Amino acid sequence: MQGVIRFAVFVLVPLIYSCSFSSNGERIFFTATSKNGLITIKQGAPVMKMALKGCANCHGRDGKGGHALDATGMKGSDIRYKTLVLKYGGYLSYMEGKGDKISGGVDTLIKRAITEGEGQGYKLNIAMPRWAMSDEDLGDVIEYLKTL
Ligand code: HEC
Repeated sequence: MQGVIRFAVFVLVPLIYSCSFSSNGERIFFTATSKNGLITIKQGAPVMKMALKGCANCHGRDGKGGHALDATGMKGSDIRYKTLVLKYGGYLSYMEGKGDKISGGVDTLIKRAITEGEGQGYKLNIAMPRWAMSDEDLGDVIEYLKTL
């Protein structure tokens, strides 16, 4: 009996849950789990180390931002792609003006924000975890941000 319950909880529930997303990027956004399993973080606030949360928990289900998860009260910003392109597009021009070539353009800068916490010329607050994400998953989550 216990085996059946375990099977239901650890296998069926995650399976059904993961099927309810229409793309890998959407699943990452809501659950911090990709088609290859749970995504880990390289660095993050203690509250994140205890229980990984999807992007939506801090950045809102619509990506417009607004949720503070921990005592810092730091709210996740608007990460809809159209907003990020405006912000990081300006920074890209600035970098290129200085002679830095950024291959991959604005998406490369967005990926660095997600994995390294590199903001526009400053380190993002540690309330934003540094994600250990594969390039494929990064591409997928960025694709999803485009739909918001
Ligand atoms: C525990 C809360 C939390 C989670 C979960 C989280 N973020 Fe963040 N994120 C933040 C906060 C807070 C900031 C703002 C940090 C700052 O401005 O210093 C941020 C900033 C960012 C930025 C930079 C935006 C800008 O305006 O410069 C990007 C991009 C981003 N997050 C993407 C993501 C993605 C993609 C995920 C999911 C894989 C995610 N975040 C998960 C809290 C979170």
